[in-house]
Amino acid sequence: MAFGFFKKGKKQKQSSSDKYDNLLVKEIVQETSDAITIVFEQPENKISYDSGQFLTLIVPIDGKEVRRAYSLSSSSSVDEDLAVTIKRVEGGLMSNYLPDNLKVGDTLKVMDPMGTFTTQFDVKNKRHFIQFAGGSGITPMMSIIKSTLIQEPESIVSLIYCNRNIDSIIFKQKLEELETNYEGRLHVIHVLDDAPMNWQGYSGLLNKDMLTSLFERIPDWGTDNTTYLMCGPEGMMKNAESLLDGLNIPKERVFKESFVQGIIDKDPSKDEYKDELVERMVTVIYDGEEHKINVAPNASILESALDKDIDLPYSCQSGLCTACRGKCVSGKVKLDEEEGLSESELDEGYVLTCVGHPLTDDVVIEIG
Ligand code: FES
Repeated sequence: MAFGFFKKGKKQKQSSSDKYDNLLVKEIVQETSDAITIVFEQPENKISYDSGQFLTLIVPIDGKEVRRAYSLSSSSSVDEDLAVTIKRVEGGLMSNYLPDNLKVGDTLKVMDPMGTFTTQFDVKNKRHFIQFAGGSGITPMMSIIKSTLIQEPESIVSLIYCNRNIDSIIFKQKLEELETNYEGRLHVIHVLDDAPMNWQGYSGLLNKDMLTSLFERIPDWGTDNTTYLMCGPEGMMKNAESLLDGLNIPKERVFKESFVQGIIDKDPSKDEYKDELVERMVTVIYDGEEHKINVAPNASILESALDKDIDLPYSCQSGLCTACRGKCVSGKVKLDEEEGLSESELDEGYVLTCVGHPLTDDVVIEIG
């Protein structure tokens, strides 16, 4: 994906001694029946982050260390502390474990904030963000909304927010307050799957007719200073993307945060590289140490390293977050998923070890 306003995210911390922080849980807010916000106290050694970035939580569950990435819903320009908002997912390991077990006063191990769904705020900017959020996809949007309203007095935000029903709307009241406090600068339009009888707003699937009618209520939606942001279920984002495409919105103005805990499930027998995908040795240089890792045909480089207890950085394990990014300085690597990397990163030889497989015997990857 090409990034315009939005920049490639912060680099990770690089030495193993400071890769992780332990954060104190200061407050747990029940947002809806199935969503909580975890507020972490800013440590003395302040953690800086940009709106739109995510935090990777590392939690021991049933004797195994589980990592999951959650977008920060707080804004560093508004909120004293850091917060992530988590919605239960059916069968989700951490999204159910935390609401059931976490208590105020606990500490959680986290990785530094990461992610590229970010922008630099500037008081001189005069721009319009049109956001499409679905369910818990509101979390990075909330952070961006707060930062925009406070840091760019001349910028405005229009949020199209899709939810199952009224009770599942995360931050409903907070958004209403912001709309009132920043009158004319934040415009929230709710779309519900399952609307009550007296619902005055929109309901049903976001389609061409609905978007046309929504855009009649959104000023200047097609101008050059408008940026379109989306975060939510994959289906919703694909739909919104193709609708914007149908309105000739340039792709460079559309940015999405894909936060599906993806399962790369491709049939290896149909892989165009199936003949090259054999067991190979890969060299990974991380933290000044060189590791030789034997990678089996169906395993990723990261999986193989973790199996050998080599502590490489990672988060989503789905090729989306770039926590495992490294530069391939020798040999050839095949990626199951390239979404997380920009074209220029791919051209420069960057790879993601969580979805990377060696195609030659001389692969050397430098991380950090
Ligand atoms: S761990 Fe997220 S891209 Fe590899």
